[in-house]
Amino acid sequence: MRLPDNIVIVGAGGHAKVVIATVRAAGGDVVAAYDDDESRWGQQILGVTIKGPVSPGEIGSAPAIIAIGNNRARKSLAELLNARWVTACHPTAVVHPSASIGAGSVVFAGSVIQPDASIGAHAILNTASSVDHDCILGDFVHVGPGARLCGGVTLDEGVLLGVGAKIAPNVEIGPWSTAGAGAVCVVDVEGGATVVGVPARSIEADK
Ligand SMILES: CC(C)(COP(=O)(O)OP(=O)(O)OC[C@H]1O[C@@H](n2cnc3c(N)ncnc32)[C@H](O)[C@@H]1OP(=O)(O)O)[C@@H](O)C(=O)NCCC(=O)NCCS
Repeated sequence: MRLPDNIVIVGAGGHAKVVIATVRAAGGDVVAAYDDDESRWGQQILGVTIKGPVSPGEIGSAPAIIAIGNNRARKSLAELLNARWVTACHPTAVVHPSASIGAGSVVFAGSVIQPDASIGAHAILNTASSVDHDCILGDFVHVGPGARLCGGVTLDEGVLLGVGAKIAPNVEIGPWSTAGAGAVCVVDVEGGATVVGVPARSIEADK
């Protein structure tokens, strides 16, 4: 489905650049980027003017995407704003028709989403990530660039997978946990944990 050409994005950092590029590649366009950082107001990001502050009055019910990589920030803004959340998939992403993707989520170039995967709202599937069959991803997750999920994986709400992280089949990563860059998770991870390494182990326990 062709995207609207009057999308507003919330956030004007590096991640926002990739969201703008993704929207344009998918046939839509971004008309404004909103940010709370006053020093950015009036500047441009990929030709889009940055405005502010971010508020329900400014954004209204515009078609919008929260273009901020931080999962908790996306959740706060999703609860604050009343926008019409848009889902954007880059045309080079391969998304099986049986997969579902929630409102406000973005799927960047080269990603793959396999059959019967379910992706929540305001999720980020970063560049060239893969989500295999029957995975369930909650709202506000961020799957980092090149991260790989085997079949049947569950990522609970707010999970961050760092660049190149890998999750073995049927493993569940608990809510608001982080798997660090390059981590390989072969067993379930409890909520709120940070795990790193191969195989991944909690670094909280080591502190
Ligand atoms: C896991 C992570 C969140 C930890 O951050 P942190 O809490 O600030 O932890 P620190 O940098 O203080 O590191 C703590 C220890 O873990 C080690 N460590 C941190 N990240 C690691 C990783 N990915 N793999 C292996 N070891 C790691 C550090 O070397 C340090 O070890 P030490 O105590 O022996 O010195 C972070 O390092 C990381 O990997 N982030 C992923 C970012 C990413 O890929 N984002 C994608 C967005 S596009």
